[in-house]
Amino acid sequence: MRKNFWGKSALKNRMVFLSLLVIISLFSLPTHAEKEESHSSVITDGFSHEELKRGERFFKGLLPFERKAESCVSCHNILPVDTLNWNPSAMDIALKYAATDFAAFEQVVMQPTGKKMSEVHQLFDISNNDLKLVKGYLDEMAHEGPQPEKTNIVWLIGLISLILVVLWASTELLLIRKVKPRIITVTVLLGAFIWLTNMLYHEAVDLGRQEAYAPLQPIKFSHEVHAGLNQTDCFYCHSTAEYSKSAGIPSVNVCMNCHLIVREGTNSGKFEIDKIYHAFENNIPIEWVRVHNLPDHVFFSHAQHVGAGKLDCAECHGPVEEMDVLTQHADLSMGWCLDCHKTRKVQFIENDYYATYKEFHDQITSGMIDSVTVEQIGGTDCMKCHY
Ligand code: HEC
Ligand code: HEC
Ligand code: HEC
Ligand code: HEC
Ligand code: HEC
Ligand code: HEC
Repeated sequence: MRKNFWGKSALKNRMVFLSLLVIISLFSLPTHAEKEESHSSVITDGFSHEELKRGERFFKGLLPFERKAESCVSCHNILPVDTLNWNPSAMDIALKYAATDFAAFEQVVMQPTGKKMSEVHQLFDISNNDLKLVKGYLDEMAHEGPQPEKTNIVWLIGLISLILVVLWASTELLLIRKVKPRIITVTVLLGAFIWLTNMLYHEAVDLGRQEAYAPLQPIKFSHEVHAGLNQTDCFYCHSTAEYSKSAGIPSVNVCMNCHLIVREGTNSGKFEIDKIYHAFENNIPIEWVRVHNLPDHVFFSHAQHVGAGKLDCAECHGPVEEMDVLTQHADLSMGWCLDCHKTRKVQFIENDYYATYKEFHDQITSGMIDSVTVEQIGGTDCMKCHY
């Protein structure tokens, strides 16, 4: 039946061809994130590919069959985990020992010194050769770097199905015209199109705004241990919150005030606290990953809220003293700021900050009004929050 691809009746063919192109390009999307497989029998650091595989199997507990201790991976996770794992991850260890020789590695694994380390590593009965292969495997891991994140497959399938439905409905509507009550096709087309737009819109918005965001930090610093269990005041570490725009992140020196003495943690042993020493002794800052990120066009100051407004940290940051991993509590949207500003009463009396609002003061003393909201002092003016 088919005459000529670009012929008169071939519009349908072209549509099919185009849709195929779209689908193929969609499938090629996630492959960008996939890691290049560069396996060959090339010998790395004196180990053959087979030997490295054996090291990996040992680490994962698949070898040998008759072992007494737990596998390394049951404590040192290879893949990222959602909950906090206090033990160093496999990558943590790999990076720390990548540049050291085997003797140092063997020493630390087989002859543990710290309290925690003696508890967890004491049962080890590993042949020198096996441990060498484990080190080889870890070195390779350090060399290859972290595994990239995979695209969410369910989301992707949903996206592709919706695109297919939209394509089918529009071809049906314009070319095939078999389904008689056209309202059916139109409804399907509209529905799928709206859903698709919605999906893409949310994806775009989420790129910038992330509630419950908790990135991996360079040290497993726990607010529960410090602000909760040990009751250290927030201002001890975030000392500028009251009078400056930024609350501030403590420097290594602040950690050293206590960790000069506290050298081992109940949960993490020495590994994490050692990182503080490493930073201190080499004079390099700890690169904390920012959790809260307002867009550049928004102005926010802690001094206005903590200093003048006398707000508690928890109103915006939630129960921080219960968090092992610091997590963003509010969504930091414009609606969130405005909701509070519209209803919140400012602490007007006995607050020097508001001494200039004479009119409101007079109205309060004369009993005309009993309180002033943030909105009334201009808290919803665009220019207050936007540059
Ligand atoms: C012993 C020092 C210390 C104490 C005490 C402390 N913090 Fe922190 N805080 C840190 C460090 C270090 C970070 C950066 C690492 C992180 O995000 O977990 C941080 C991060 C934060 C962040 C996230 C900052 C960002 O990146 O957006 C918030 C919010 C916060 N702290 C609030 C509090 C509150 C509220 C308290 C009191 C309940 C408190 N902190 C007590 C040291 C401390
Ligand atoms: C009115 C809400 C609010 C209150 C109250 C508040 N914060 Fe924040 N905090 C924020 C917002 C919003 C950000 C993000 C600011 C940005 O991205 O510019 C933030 C960021 C931070 C940061 C990251 C570093 C910085 O300063 O930008 C830390 C640390 C922090 N807050 C600690 C505290 C502590 C400690 C308190 C209590 C003393 C507190 N915050 C009270 C809303 C609040
Ligand atoms: C006011 C004193 C104090 C300050 C300041 C302080 N810490 Fe601690 N830290 C402690 C105490 C106490 C422990 C609990 C030790 C234990 O588990 O017995 C601890 C434990 C830890 C642990 C191990 C947690 C566990 O349970 O295994 C880490 C990691 C840690 N701190 C990191 C830091 C970092 C990073 C800083 C600087 C941002 C810091 N600390 C600042 C007192 C402090
Ligand atoms: C039962 C849990 C557990 C098992 C099993 C385990 N580890 Fe560990 N390992 C830990 C903990 C906890 C630490 C951190 C202790 C500390 O720093 O005080 C640690 C630390 C380490 C360190 C770093 C020590 C340092 O301070 O630099 C190395 C290297 C290591 N383990 C290798 C291994 C290898 C290889 C295996 C398998 C043969 C293994 N571990 C099995 C719990 C475990
Ligand atoms: C939990 C309540 C609350 C939230 C949430 C909140 N604010 Fe506020 N805000 C206040 C209070 C109370 C004041 C009045 C104190 C003052 O003027 O300093 C204030 C004052 C301000 C002011 C000064 C207004 C003026 O007229 O001087 C700015 C700017 C501001 N907030 C920005 C923000 C931004 C941006 C956000 C969101 C990222 C936000 N606020 C979220 C309670 C809040
Ligand atoms: C109390 C503080 C506050 C006030 C007042 C305020 N905004 Fe915003 N605005 C924000 C914050 C915070 C964001 C960032 C929202 C986000 O990241 O999702 C924002 C974002 C925006 C955006 C970007 C769109 C977006 O969702 O990211 C526009 C446009 C905007 N505001 C316009 C205005 C206008 C116009 C006014 C005056 C009627 C105003 N804003 C008043 C806090 C405020």
